[in-house]
Amino acid sequence: MKDILEQLEEKRSRARLGGGQKRIDAQHAKGKLTARERIELLLDDDSFEEWDMFVEHRCADFGMAEKQIPGDGVVTGHGTINGRLIYVFSKDFTVFGGSLSATHAEKIVKIQKAALQNGAPVIGIFDAGGARIQEGVAALAGYADIFLQNTLASGVVPQISMIMGPCAGGDVYSPAITDFIFMVRDTSYMYVTGPDVVKTVTNEEVTHEELGGASVHAKKSGVVDGAFENDLEALVQLRRLVDFLPLSNREPAPVRSTQDAIDRCEASLDTLIPANPNQPYDMKELIEKIVDEGDFFEISPEHAPNIVVGFARLEGQSVGIVANQPMSLAGVLDIDASRKAGRFVRFCDAFNIPLVTLVDVPGFLPGTKQEYGGLIKHGAKLLFAYAEATVPKLTVITRKAYGGAYDVMSSKHLRGDVNYAWPTAEIAVMGASGAAEIIHRADLGDEEKMAEHVAEYEGRFTNPFIAASRGYIDDVIMPRNTRRRLIQALRTLKHKDLENPWKKHDNIPL
Ligand code: HXC
Repeated sequence: MKDILEQLEEKRSRARLGGGQKRIDAQHAKGKLTARERIELLLDDDSFEEWDMFVEHRCADFGMAEKQIPGDGVVTGHGTINGRLIYVFSKDFTVFGGSLSATHAEKIVKIQKAALQNGAPVIGIFDAGGARIQEGVAALAGYADIFLQNTLASGVVPQISMIMGPCAGGDVYSPAITDFIFMVRDTSYMYVTGPDVVKTVTNEEVTHEELGGASVHAKKSGVVDGAFENDLEALVQLRRLVDFLPLSNREPAPVRSTQDAIDRCEASLDTLIPANPNQPYDMKELIEKIVDEGDFFEISPEHAPNIVVGFARLEGQSVGIVANQPMSLAGVLDIDASRKAGRFVRFCDAFNIPLVTLVDVPGFLPGTKQEYGGLIKHGAKLLFAYAEATVPKLTVITRKAYGGAYDVMSSKHLRGDVNYAWPTAEIAVMGASGAAEIIHRADLGDEEKMAEHVAEYEGRFTNPFIAASRGYIDDVIMPRNTRRRLIQALRTLKHKDLENPWKKHDNIPL
């Protein structure tokens, strides 16, 4: 018996070494942690239960029969984050470059199925060279099996991907289907085809970083939702994000106790809006001043900064915040902002997280670049997302709410539950000078008359009271009381019951 126990321990030790000490050292030399070290940091101490540690590949081609490494390039299992169940897989670059074989794929699919059945999130950590070249179509089949599970789990359990090394070919499409993707700066990159293939096909010369580094995907393409400085920071922040999310769509979003007073008054908010309507202010200041303990987890901060989205808590309850940012492009809605916010709104709706929308938007961005890029379809994504959302929807208009963007940003007309405005709100088809120039074109050369027309339009529309007189705004509130009013509104919506008509699925303008 003792021998058998010793043999088991020996087998485990061998599996834990992955591709061997030399490759582990190489991994560390690149500033990266190993697959197991990452899991240990991500999960609560001693909570990880590993599955399929002894799985080996079945490939006999290209001398692979002699190259067997237990675990086959991916560490899988489950554990907890702050006591809540999480399924995890972590690609082991030290084993055949973390490449995906048929058995490697089976391990991931097993985790995905268990998470879906048991209602818990899946976190995938990527550091891999794509399909295992020696396995050919068997590896491709394995990827498709993973993509299918990703798709079936979408909207049922949260799925998060953390890119911590190379991520190419088949490895990019599984993250792309998941809810959030994060990257580590300098050590990770993502692309469908690498620089060599790019050179062959298009004659373009690019580096790994230029093609698919964090600087590209967190800012330009918007493929990833955030980039972190190193493995450690990335994993700590991932734990923080998970704390905001429910385990599945069958569960309410978590509630955490808070020391922050519900009726905390923020007098400084009364002077947040500058006297000059064209002067920006930082919408993040407002967010941080109204949410519990100023704790805000921003999603995609570098991409489309003209809209701010992320998670926070009100009276301990997770909420999704969507806010126009006057500091960037005056908070206008463009293609990128519409896609970013539309996707976030849909995530919150799928996972029962109430939405708080803070509005200061001058409209949709005009111009050929936007129109040629399909602003109509992309803008409609955000409109569609808000319109179909049935979670509690709270809206505060702080300043501008012009044109179609007024409708889009969780207006009463799209089933906003509680719609407030600050006294500084301007709810109109457009800004006063633009409106005067169109209505009074004949007076365009006459400065005095035009000033009168602008003043008349301002007096009539650039305030919240016309909308309030029609019931489109439920109340005009003092800025300092915003936190208390939102919390009270959220309390009334605890048992909100609203369903959309039955359908197989909708047809969002993709
Ligand atoms: C088998 C692989 C591998 C792969 C890497 N390795 N990628 N083995 N299949 N796809 C092995 C290497 O042979 C090496 O083994 C070890 O992993 C480390 O790789 P290195 O090249 O030494 O590391 P590095 O210089 O850091 O480069 C990492 C890399 C590079 C950029 C990922 O290895 C690479 O370009 N790999 C191939 C990427 C690729 O084209 N994959 C196929 C994508 S197509 P030893 O024994 O020497 O340590 C695809 C189709 C799916 O995925 C599509 C589904 C939709």
